[in-house]
Amino acid sequence: MPKDWYEWHDLYKTEPRLQQRLEIVREFIGYSLKASPDGAIRIVSVCAGDGRDLLGTLENHPRRNDVYARLVELNPQLVERGRATIESLGLAKQIEFINGDAAIANNYVGAVPADIVIACGVFGNLTEAELNRLLDNLSFLSKPGAFVIWTRGHSNGIPYSENVRKVLSTSGFAEVNFKLTATGDMGVGIHQYKGKHLPQPKEQQLFVFSGVPSKAR
Ligand SMILES: C[S@@+](CC[C@H](N)C(=O)[O-])C[C@H]1O[C@@H](n2cnc3c(N)ncnc32)[C@H](O)[C@@H]1O
Repeated sequence: MPKDWYEWHDLYKTEPRLQQRLEIVREFIGYSLKASPDGAIRIVSVCAGDGRDLLGTLENHPRRNDVYARLVELNPQLVERGRATIESLGLAKQIEFINGDAAIANNYVGAVPADIVIACGVFGNLTEAELNRLLDNLSFLSKPGAFVIWTRGHSNGIPYSENVRKVLSTSGFAEVNFKLTATGDMGVGIHQYKGKHLPQPKEQQLFVFSGVPSKAR
């Protein structure tokens, strides 16, 4: 059992469902980069971990020079590792890693509205009410037409990602693609935000993250 979120990231070395999830997330990020109009592409990553999904995609992507991204993550060790990767990719002028609370609207000021919002490993750590609150607050983070890439694991035979798809479809998002990992118990979705952008957040607290690493599998 991982004792903290830094240790949780070690599961990427051994867990097929996390490895397969990462592959699909990178595919969807790559797709959304290609589908973005010419010019700057703004990206925010909510609870970014060490940023391996976005940074791994940008390594060889033809649109990498168009990207301006802000990744927000609370764990300082993960941020340090992410910043080292950004340096090694030569992307330090375009990508910033904030060591802060991704649930607080102020941490996105200057980086939104985004063309791509990455929320991976997040929805399963929110209560249903907080998931709805975050989806509602995406009107602050997203441009109209922005891509939102998300994941949701299944457990005890309950296909939780189906509920997320239902909630998204009734909250102003259009599904672009959805895939289950080959392990069959992790959903990855890409939706397009069809609502308007709100220049001011409705509230400072965008959601409450209540998950713990020992249970987030
Ligand atoms: C399940 S992990 C997912 C990490 C990454 N997005 C991924 O998919 O590999 C959840 C992450 O959320 C971070 N986290 C938890 N609460 C947070 C908060 N309020 N603000 C920013 N990050 C937070 C944890 O430190 C952890 O790295």
